[in-house]
Amino acid sequence: MAPVQVKKICCIGAGYVGGPTCAVIALKCPHITVTIVDLNQARVDAWNSKDFDLPIYEPGLVDVVKQARGRNLFFSTDVDKAIREADLIFVSVNTPTKKSGVGAGFAADLNYVESATRRIAAVATSDKIVVEKSTVPCRTAESMRTILEANSKPGTHFDILSNPEFLAEGTAITDLFSPDRVLIGSLQTESGQNASQALAAVYANWIPKERILTVGLWSSELSKLAANAMLAQRISSVNALSAICEATGANIDEVAHAVGFDSRIGPKFLRASVGFGGSCFQKDILNLVYLSESLHLPQVAAYWRQVVEMNEYQKSRFSKTVVDTLFNTITGKHIAVLGFAFKADTGDTRESASISLIRDFLSERAYVTIYDPKVEVAQIWQDLQEACPTTPLAQIQKYVNIVHSAAEACEQKEAIVIATEWKEFLDIDWQHVYDLMTKPAFVFDGRLLLDAEKLTKIGFTVKTIGRGGRV
Ligand code: UDX
Ligand code: ADP
Repeated sequence: MAPVQVKKICCIGAGYVGGPTCAVIALKCPHITVTIVDLNQARVDAWNSKDFDLPIYEPGLVDVVKQARGRNLFFSTDVDKAIREADLIFVSVNTPTKKSGVGAGFAADLNYVESATRRIAAVATSDKIVVEKSTVPCRTAESMRTILEANSKPGTHFDILSNPEFLAEGTAITDLFSPDRVLIGSLQTESGQNASQALAAVYANWIPKERILTVGLWSSELSKLAANAMLAQRISSVNALSAICEATGANIDEVAHAVGFDSRIGPKFLRASVGFGGSCFQKDILNLVYLSESLHLPQVAAYWRQVVEMNEYQKSRFSKTVVDTLFNTITGKHIAVLGFAFKADTGDTRESASISLIRDFLSERAYVTIYDPKVEVAQIWQDLQEACPTTPLAQIQKYVNIVHSAAEACEQKEAIVIATEWKEFLDIDWQHVYDLMTKPAFVFDGRLLLDAEKLTKIGFTVKTIGRGGRV
């Protein structure tokens, strides 16, 4: 039996992963029709909007969609039709951490994966390759297979693949154009390997064959969790060292640079920060913790849990530095928070460190003015409401102001906090900001972004993560 040649792809879930990934597949494979479906009508409408006002901000994405949309790339809410017509289906729905029940706070909520899988089983009338694309715990593919087999129509065959996505937000398009690797996991049966080859052939349209790795199903699922856990672990390690630097007068930039020069360690993912955020790191590590506990490996669970705990510590340590430095109280003081996204070049706010900082400032009854170049105002209110569930939104809004430029945010504040490393914050007219501030004027750089020496010369008191006084 030869591998099928994929002609029609359906992607269930038009979010941060499914949208950019399948848009790039459509761009690079003009002979394949790609339909991205989502139950969320507003999201689909935005993907289809005439002026390309897409639902997610990602550098380079608009260009990709402009080239492929209407040619071989389509966005729709007609999930059933797209499933029926496709030879290959990506399941790219959300998998948040469970909020209640068994494994609450740790395990992934697989509700969305399960309902998408059940939908495939219910409507498919021909053979399908079903590809798990969402980050999911190990052995999810096995559950998907069981659901599909138990509910399929006679004569309909499903092959399950795991094909985790490694793109990072903000660089998604370049990551997709030129990935370090593509990982495809399959059952080691003839049919499983054929399905794996069929998907590999899709990627081979633009990715060198040696970068397309084919492995077993469970290795593929675990590799995704492992990669994210190890990346996050580097950040927590460097953040732990940043606390030592602040206490001793060493400089974390210099330490990270020196450590990263070791070719065995390498320079990437050693940037100290106010804490990592994003939809993946914390969720995936907690998945790994839950998996380890389920496998009766408490020491392994504790090891990975500490990476998340260090991240929580880093965020609260930074809030405490702000309070301590502002003479042990920020009640009634005015603080500008620059950046609300979890990193630069995205409008995504999931698990953003900024949210924790602002929650801490609000609990001290400080007044906070927020500016972010890409995050929607409604998203900020929603995140703050979720972060402070016992405070009515109207009360939060008495203390929080959202503005549309960094200059406006900085006007007449007692302190300025850099929470996201947006490049445009480098262009702020700091002398002008200083002139309008109450003195002493404080800047807290949670992203090692600003030129602390220049700001100090202007007159600011500058506190930067991982930098103590010179010794
Ligand atoms: C991550 C993985 O990089 C990606 O492979 C996976 O597919 C999804 O999860 P993402 O969360 O989009 O991607 O962004 P990433 O660049 O990894 O940043 C995550 C967080 O770590 C951000 O808050 C970022 O600011 C922070 N970070 C990153 C640091 O604090 N220091 C660093 O050195 C790198
Ligand atoms: P990710 O960052 O993993 O892409 P998102 O939350 O951005 O996650 O996107 C997931 C998308 O999947 C959402 O737009 C959601 O509406 C969609 N979705 C969830 N379940 C289904 C389903 N059963 N059918 C179609 N779309 C779904």
